[in-house]
Amino acid sequence: MNISIIGTGYVGLVSGACFSEFGFNVTCIDKDKNKINNLNNGLIPIYEPSLEDLVKKNVKAKRLSFSTNLAEDFENSDAIFIAVGTPTNIKNNKADLKYIYEVAKEIAELINIDADPKLIVTKSTVPVGTGKNIESYMLNYRKELKINLNFEVASNPEFLREGSAIEDFMRPDRVICGVESNFAKSILEKLYRPLNLRETPILFSKRETAELIKYAANGFLATKITFINEMADICERVGADIQEVAKGIGLDGRIGSKFLHPGPGFGGSCFPKDTRALSEIGKEVGAKSAIIDSVIKVNEARKVNMVKKIKDALGPLKNKSLSILGITFKPNTDDMRESPSLVIIPELIKITKEVKVYDPAGMSIAKEMKEFEGVTWMNDTYECINNTDAIVLITEWNEFRALDLYKVKTLLNKPVIIDLRNIYKPDSMSELGFQYVSIGRGSI
Ligand SMILES: NC(=O)c1ccc[n+]([C@@H]2O[C@H](COP(=O)([O-])OP(=O)(O)OC[C@H]3O[C@@H](n4cnc5c(N)ncnc54)[C@H](O)[C@@H]3O)[C@@H](O)[C@H]2O)c1
Repeated sequence: MNISIIGTGYVGLVSGACFSEFGFNVTCIDKDKNKINNLNNGLIPIYEPSLEDLVKKNVKAKRLSFSTNLAEDFENSDAIFIAVGTPTNIKNNKADLKYIYEVAKEIAELINIDADPKLIVTKSTVPVGTGKNIESYMLNYRKELKINLNFEVASNPEFLREGSAIEDFMRPDRVICGVESNFAKSILEKLYRPLNLRETPILFSKRETAELIKYAANGFLATKITFINEMADICERVGADIQEVAKGIGLDGRIGSKFLHPGPGFGGSCFPKDTRALSEIGKEVGAKSAIIDSVIKVNEARKVNMVKKIKDALGPLKNKSLSILGITFKPNTDDMRESPSLVIIPELIKITKEVKVYDPAGMSIAKEMKEFEGVTWMNDTYECINNTDAIVLITEWNEFRALDLYKVKTLLNKPVIIDLRNIYKPDSMSELGFQYVSIGRGSI
């Protein structure tokens, strides 16, 4: 089987590398010439564990290649995946589908009406009805095209998580396929057959159902995080421990222990934009989601509240120097999209003497962002901490989990840690003489 994947970002590149690892021939396409040049020279554009090795292995085996030109392999492709971005359209909060339609137009132009039909698969997260709308758009753009005879569109939303993307793609909890014909079903069955060995559930549904499953999943997970964040606020006021609350409710099989980690609010390339898009989908069809609307509002307020938390812990900040550990929206990625740090740090820059920042992977992207203008970039954790009045830990990278706390104490002007991810134990920190402020566990 030959596959083309349009959009070589987090999803496109990981899907391409993994499908080629399954044994298929994959061409990853992107309009960003620089990215494709780099990939052709062995340079991986994103930070994602194990991705580099997988890409190199499959390029060497000649199963994976990169191009800026969709036309090159189009004729030979059994399936054409669309994995371009669907960011928020800031004018209306809906998913912006301009890249999707750019690609739909390009595909429509390339379809050979005398050849076998082409299966187009949306892997991008797209609002319900987009698969159908892409078909209508293509039929309208090129009048001689016929649905089923020349092409059709299926939905195969992606659930990988940055930071564990390869593992998630190779060992998913499930695969969701929205199809409208046996032709689409049989191609997707073949593409995911390698997962049968692991008995991965592969769910086939109508296209609209598949499109909604993706938003419903992200909406639910965002709600779970927001819920535990609110419980953490209550814990702080009543003297309860959110870690124990999370464990106590998570052991209930109906609730489950995942996504019950309190923090500074969710961010990243998916939850914020997908909750906004889901809210708009609901409004558009007359089924407004009060839950999702609250989740969005509560989460936005939470990021701002983190600054208040820091102020409350440290008192006047005007003459204080802070060290920030971690700025990406989560560990093991360089993705800065909608990270809570983008709200917290600009405010800290305004009200403190100095903000020093260290992150293991996010700094090269962050250095170009206006939100970080005025910070001092540091090359490692201890250099960052040195001579500052407090540490603010925003992202729980592994290397921050086992700091040499004696060394930290000697480097800091005062032994203060504000841990927005609860990676240390309050009792141990107190024994070591730290003023340790965390989430939902009171402050010592
Ligand atoms: N990042 C994630 O963790 C994740 C997880 C699941 C689903 N998704 C969804 O997958 C989609 C892609 O997300 P991403 O994070 O990989 O995006 P991304 O921004 O990392 O990558 C998108 C790529 O598409 C390219 N592109 C845009 N228009 C193009 C065109 N006309 N032709 C060729 N290339 C084009 C861009 O240059 C870019 O490299 C989104 O809909 C997202 O919601 C993302």
